[in-house]
Amino acid sequence: MSEKIYPVLPSAKKNTLIDDETYLEWYRKSVDDPEAFWAEHGKRIDWFRPYTKVKNTSFTGDISIKWFEDGVTNVTYNCIDRHLEKRGDQVAIIWEGDNPYIDKKITYRELYAEVCRLANVLKKQGVQKGDRVTIYMPMIPEAAYAMLACARIGAIHSVVFGGFSPDALAGRLVDCQSTFIVTADEGLRGGKPIPLKENTDTAIDIAAKQGLQVKSVLVVRRTGGKIAWAPDRDLWYHQEIARAEPECPPTEMKAEDPLFILYTSGSTGKPKGVLHTTGGYLVYAAMTHEYVFDYRDGDIYWCTADVGWVTGHSYIVYGPLANGATTLMFEGVPNYPDYGRFWDVVDKHKVNIFYTAPTAIRALMGAGNDFVKRASRESLRLLGSVGEPINPEAWEWYYHVVGEDRCAIVDTWWQTETGGIMITPLPGATKLKPGSATRPFFGVQPELVDPEGKVMEGSANGNLCIADSWPGQMRTVYGDHPRFVETYFSTYKGKYFTGDGCRRDEDGYYWITGRVDDVLNVSGHRLGTAEVESALVSHHFVSEAAVVGYPHNIKGQGIYCYVTLMAGTEGTDDLRKELVTHVRKEIGPIATPDKIQFAPGLPKTRSGKIMRRILRKIAEDDFGSLGDTSTLADPGVVDGLIENRQNKQ
Ligand code: PRX
Repeated sequence: MSEKIYPVLPSAKKNTLIDDETYLEWYRKSVDDPEAFWAEHGKRIDWFRPYTKVKNTSFTGDISIKWFEDGVTNVTYNCIDRHLEKRGDQVAIIWEGDNPYIDKKITYRELYAEVCRLANVLKKQGVQKGDRVTIYMPMIPEAAYAMLACARIGAIHSVVFGGFSPDALAGRLVDCQSTFIVTADEGLRGGKPIPLKENTDTAIDIAAKQGLQVKSVLVVRRTGGKIAWAPDRDLWYHQEIARAEPECPPTEMKAEDPLFILYTSGSTGKPKGVLHTTGGYLVYAAMTHEYVFDYRDGDIYWCTADVGWVTGHSYIVYGPLANGATTLMFEGVPNYPDYGRFWDVVDKHKVNIFYTAPTAIRALMGAGNDFVKRASRESLRLLGSVGEPINPEAWEWYYHVVGEDRCAIVDTWWQTETGGIMITPLPGATKLKPGSATRPFFGVQPELVDPEGKVMEGSANGNLCIADSWPGQMRTVYGDHPRFVETYFSTYKGKYFTGDGCRRDEDGYYWITGRVDDVLNVSGHRLGTAEVESALVSHHFVSEAAVVGYPHNIKGQGIYCYVTLMAGTEGTDDLRKELVTHVRKEIGPIATPDKIQFAPGLPKTRSGKIMRRILRKIAEDDFGSLGDTSTLADPGVVDGLIENRQNKQ
């Protein structure tokens, strides 16, 4: 662990929204009297009917979380309408295409018209308040329009990342019984087409076998590639929009009416539909966006995430737009046409605030400094990191090479479930330590808990819990409240358990050490080991599988699979390749296994439980410290596994 300390930069202190004194004062208020604190800050959004109740939350019993519950508002009114008078002609979204010569600017006034028209198209198709609309899109402005159009009329969107397979899409359609889809003919990333419509067609067939009849598919023409067409179901986006009215009044939404569902992986079972609601989510996303990034009027802000993840929801679309910001949306990848793309885009659009993931930073660092140096980057003021622990080496490179020692780094820890940033530096207030997410945001009360559930004081290393609710918190697992209670509130009674391990140092700084459950974090993408295992065992030659993570230089974690084959099947390299393809087909390219080890037997306890601790150690090539193996039903399997390990150093 690096213990270097970087003082607050003079440039970050100047005109900062929050200096250290303010941070400490506000933080104290926010935890001493959350009701008063949030009563005040809830006013940052406009309400059609103001709230009189602020916080009504309970982390015990059936778990009920309500914020601003009698307030009435609409998210798009806050993200668009209220800006029109002052900033109608200001750019809301800068879109940078995959092709470096293609871009587009959309003003707030244009955004208003696009969103209203699309909302009217949805209405015409029979979409009503509370209906689920699935968005399976490339990174094009229409993805943001679709999210906002849903919010305009009170439909609940479920964005599914464009890299997910038809099977994964089908599972999500069926889980929330979504019968309306917005997609594109194809996506384009790094010059390569992604068959979104074809995947959608396949997913619809899979869903139909499970009893779900998708009614309409609205298709954006992005590449003009050849696609199949079902005339009674499919609609061209551009044709429908051309016929739609440009005005659509925002639907009145109660603060606790659902805004969106976003599926995320857990340690067991299928991905969960994380449900976020209207008022608290928007207040929290907007407030964190403003203070964490020290966003000032006129700044150009770029978050490189995909709208298929929560980072894209809160920090490309909702947070920035609620603040009247200019947000950049990028269709491409960091290494196309070459490894200098990010920095070229920074120069081209004069980006001031740049937010990306450690995996990208590590990959770009590996490509050498010339790609960075060829761009001036003089517009940059602040750098952000999210999604996984950032190793001090990558942090230092980001700080010294990319930011040339003049941009603060905000290493932001949060989760799909938290809705917004939870532990983070504030650039004008917080001294930085490379690799530490530093201190809690306002209203966030982290606790480190030992395995027995005892809260640990002072410097300690434990499991990270949050002691009380904050407005951006998820409200439930869509359609499965018991799973919500079980997953997050049953391990440590009365606390929200994050699933992360964490160390707190003597200065009260938090250092996230990674997941302590069976969740992998591969290139900042969350994956359940159980999902990869079930994809593997669905192959007819596989009888059993166990999946663990191991440290990977670029991805953070790599996917290591132990596979037991059906009797009589030979474990060849061809079969390895076939299994890799199979998992990609079942889940998507993000789940591509890095290593497959054929294992005639897995280490199990006498009751049949797989001892993952041992498998993790072997995958890490660290089998000298396997610990106690005497409880295994057959301790002999371990030697064979070590012998055939795939990560021999
Ligand atoms: O393990 C933590 C890691 O990512 C997990 C949440 O993943 P997801 O819901 O996909 O959201 C990612 C983007 C918010 C966390 O449980 N994680 C996220 N940010 C950090 C992090 N780990 C360390 N440092 C971070 N800054």
